[in-house]
Amino acid sequence: MLKTQTTEQISGHGMWSSKLAFILAATGAAVGLGNIWRFPYVTAENGGGAFVLIYLGCIALVGIPLLMTEILLGRAGRHSPINSLLQLARRSNASRTWSGVGVIGALVGVLVLSFYFVVAGWTLAYVWTYAVELVGSHAFQDTPQAHFDALLASPARLLFWSSLFLAVSVGVVAMGVEKGLEGSVRLLMPLLFGLLLIMVGYGMASGHFLQSVVYLFEPDFSAINGNVILQAVGQAFFSLSLGMTGIMAYGAYVPRDMHIGKTAAIIALADTSVAILAGLAIFPIVFAFGLESTGGPGLIFVTLPHAFAAMEFGNLYALAFFTLLAVAAWTSAISLLEPATAYLVERTSFNRPVSVLIIGGSTWLLGIGSVLSFNYWSEFLLWGKNFQELIEYVSTNIMLPAGGLLIAVFAGWIVSRVIVREQLADMNDDLYQVWRVLIRFVVPIAVLLVFLVAAGLI
Ligand code: TRP
Repeated sequence: MLKTQTTEQISGHGMWSSKLAFILAATGAAVGLGNIWRFPYVTAENGGGAFVLIYLGCIALVGIPLLMTEILLGRAGRHSPINSLLQLARRSNASRTWSGVGVIGALVGVLVLSFYFVVAGWTLAYVWTYAVELVGSHAFQDTPQAHFDALLASPARLLFWSSLFLAVSVGVVAMGVEKGLEGSVRLLMPLLFGLLLIMVGYGMASGHFLQSVVYLFEPDFSAINGNVILQAVGQAFFSLSLGMTGIMAYGAYVPRDMHIGKTAAIIALADTSVAILAGLAIFPIVFAFGLESTGGPGLIFVTLPHAFAAMEFGNLYALAFFTLLAVAAWTSAISLLEPATAYLVERTSFNRPVSVLIIGGSTWLLGIGSVLSFNYWSEFLLWGKNFQELIEYVSTNIMLPAGGLLIAVFAGWIVSRVIVREQLADMNDDLYQVWRVLIRFVVPIAVLLVFLVAAGLI
């Protein structure tokens, strides 16, 4: 049973050691494969400029308000997302069913992670390849495309590297989130940023840079259709880690004196700049080598090796780049495990290590389906998508925005205003009103409209 508690309560799972610690952890959760692997390839599949424009609009109008909302609900509830929602519903005399949003969120986390850790395994496989390459033996076969295809064709290699990645993530969550994570993020995130800048510099020198800027920022409105909009919304949720209560889980460990609005803006800005930088690093190479052969989820794993091969000390850069990408993926994977784990800890007699092992084990089993989607099951299609593509599409483009819609309705219409205003006490009245209008009207209506348009009903 949950006790009735005051708002000054402390989470039973521990707390971030400072405001900066939370900013680093949340930025770590946001910045990951979504920015560097997914953003460029989904942009390429959706025609560039118009997609990016809608994406940026979503970050500002839907992303930042929802980021604030997840943090504040977490901090007001101080429990795992499921129990925080339950408690807030009770304190607001609303139906307990609202905690179901947390149950769905925890499940969506497992769904997203089930393909995320497989892609993260690719980055580890590349770390290994470049490490071997660096000590002088030849590990990189033929062309980048052939090398990537060979990796995908081998379920054993995929399973080995992805399992290694998942095991490390599970290990960190088992130890408790404060330890280890903060330090690594503090050091490695700036390094990743710096390395991306170097890659952008290479793109600038390659002669295709301007073409990439035009491609990313000149909207071609004729390219917009319901599915492009849905993909842009989904990508915005995916990149900011919204809609599945992962940020809400982190919010429960946030110190009382942190300014939620400012923090949300910082996180969104950091996340968006990394995505744009990744685009500016990758598209010059795409244009230099031809997009057709490099579309799809393999985009960065095929284009970047072309650049590394042409750069001086390319192998060293490649090793650094894929190592940092693996770390970025790792700080994100942790946030996907946290909601379900925190709930098991509260609800069952299992301790943290056992709980995360149960969640990680289920994720791993589901992940086998994603591993096989790149080889044995690649021809096995449902609605034109293989198993991995289907999980990615449904979880990202449908379940995350739907979760975000419900979270917005809950915070805007259900939770007592006193609780919400208290969390945003350091915000002036005007900004508070803006947030309130966005969360009550703009976010729910926008997501609903996007669903209707994508379904062809409007
Ligand atoms: N945002 C991370 C990325 O861009 C992935 C991620 C972490 C995520 N937590 C999430 C995606 C929660 C959706 C929901 O790589």
